[in-house]
Amino acid sequence: MSLADFVAELDALVRDATAAFSAVGDAAELEAARVQFLGAKNGRLKTLQKGLGSVAKADKPTAGKRFNEVKQSIESALESASQRLTAAVGPATDARWVDPTVPGAPMRLGRLHPITQTIEELKEIMGRLGFSVADGPEVEDPRHNFEALNIPPEHPARDPLENFYLTGGVAGEACPLSPCLLRSQTSTVQIRVMEETPPPVRIISCGRVYRPDTADATHYPMFHQIEGLLIDRDVTMADLKSTLRLFARSAFAADVHIRFRPSFFPFTEPSVEVDMSWRDGWIEMGGAGMVDPNVLRAVGYDPEEYTGFAFGLGIERICARRHGITDIRELYKNDVRFLHQF
Ligand code: DAH
Repeated sequence: MSLADFVAELDALVRDATAAFSAVGDAAELEAARVQFLGAKNGRLKTLQKGLGSVAKADKPTAGKRFNEVKQSIESALESASQRLTAAVGPATDARWVDPTVPGAPMRLGRLHPITQTIEELKEIMGRLGFSVADGPEVEDPRHNFEALNIPPEHPARDPLENFYLTGGVAGEACPLSPCLLRSQTSTVQIRVMEETPPPVRIISCGRVYRPDTADATHYPMFHQIEGLLIDRDVTMADLKSTLRLFARSAFAADVHIRFRPSFFPFTEPSVEVDMSWRDGWIEMGGAGMVDPNVLRAVGYDPEEYTGFAFGLGIERICARRHGITDIRELYKNDVRFLHQF
């Protein structure tokens, strides 16, 4: 073969190979082009190499040099096609790009909601004072939410504007407990426990309550209360106050102050409003009092023999005060940046 023919064939080969490699669209096409041009057995470059032997001896150095140049440019066309495909797919899918020294992405662990954390702690504190935990349903009947708690039918606390009355699962259909409502206070659990257990009783109950309040920094239509009930012989107001003081000191700090203000609740007599102060002004935590004899009678207890105290405190207020939260609506926005702080 003449040098000119050999060089012409090399030129054609490099042209074809460059065009083929720049046209490949995936790894399979790239491999097919590699075999076609650079394959060790029947690749076009290999075949052409055999022609080198028939070039005149004097022309061999020129032909050989030219052959090597062509081989290099075909190999670099293969390399750049390979890089182009890798870049399109992205380095992560290419095992060669895994860098085991890069630190892993940290996993964000979930945690208990601050209200749940507060409830767990309050249960723990009251448990140490000998109170066990009781529960009751959130959908209640008027007997447990009102009647047995000495709240008569005409009492304003029963007003539909103050409560979420329910009409049942299917629109317009009567609720099976008809009428029923979302409980407006955890005092319902006092009745449920006393109906089932003879005295003495020493329980707390923590849970959700519902009132159609407009949400603001200190109100929310759903919130949580901790209810306490102690029934025994010779229970006095002093027992109530010392229990609440011990509770407040454990929930806040030793320097917390507690104050009773005279108040009225149908289910206690006398009744008080409970305020707490810890390092700054007083805040209202809830209500308390000595269980009204009518309530004891409603559950079949003898008020001549047994007395008791009860209290109901707002858990959001306790949680907010402990953590310096100024707007309880934050607790229910489910913004993990907020919740992650607790
Ligand atoms: N149930 C009352 C309320 O939700 C709070 C309360 C007051 C509970 C006095 C009590 C109590 O147990 O004795 O406003």
